[in-house]
Amino acid sequence: MSHTSTRVHAEHFQYLAERTSGDDTFLTELKAAAAQEGIPAIWVAPEQNSFLAILLRLIGAKEVVEVGTLAGYSAIGMARALPKDGRLRTIELSPKHAKFARDWVAKSDVSEVVQVLEGSGRELLPTFADNSVDAVFLDADKAGYPGYITEAMRFVRPGGLIMADNAFAFGQLFDENPTDPEVSAVKAFNDFIPTVKNLEAVIVPMGDGVWVGVKTE
Ligand SMILES: C[S@@+](CC[C@H](N)C(=O)[O-])C[C@H]1O[C@@H](n2cnc3c(N)ncnc32)[C@H](O)[C@@H]1O
Repeated sequence: MSHTSTRVHAEHFQYLAERTSGDDTFLTELKAAAAQEGIPAIWVAPEQNSFLAILLRLIGAKEVVEVGTLAGYSAIGMARALPKDGRLRTIELSPKHAKFARDWVAKSDVSEVVQVLEGSGRELLPTFADNSVDAVFLDADKAGYPGYITEAMRFVRPGGLIMADNAFAFGQLFDENPTDPEVSAVKAFNDFIPTVKNLEAVIVPMGDGVWVGVKTE
């Protein structure tokens, strides 16, 4: 028997969000403190944080890289899926965001696992060794994504994960006159990903749409 895909609506997003464990007290407090400091609430959705952690557990990840730390929400969420001797390096351009994230990582249960690196993805990703990383999560400047993918295909090991947020362009993917200046960069990236050799990837309709790919060789 064949099945067609179920059309996903806002109700489905709400439904699945209500059926995931959500944030614990620490992450709830982190978000409140970030808001008080004027840090924008542009972190991943809680169900997406769980999803990323599940994927990392499935591949037994020990070395993870993130581009775009913000307040440290997704970094802490992902780091909790790593073993105690694992390492999650998260790169943040804004000194204010990097400082906030460092302070909260230091208070967290994964203070030994997370390292906040201040700088740009463009500058820091080229410093990582070939095939040395189990998974990368891109969640920063969208125009940088194609370059980040090219670097990631070098430093992620075969069988490792390449994930990137905002495939749905902040909800404006199909808008005729999008207001967000990064929408065209997201569209270009979404068209670029299927052309990357040795990368099998799909958009998962979670949060604002997340690319999940495996480096096949
Ligand atoms: C969407 S937020 C990251 C959210 C975070 N991953 C989370 O879910 O908790 C994007 C962050 O990327 C940072 N950023 C922007 N351009 C960057 C770049 N070129 N390199 C590193 N970080 C950058 C921004 O300052 C911002 O803090």
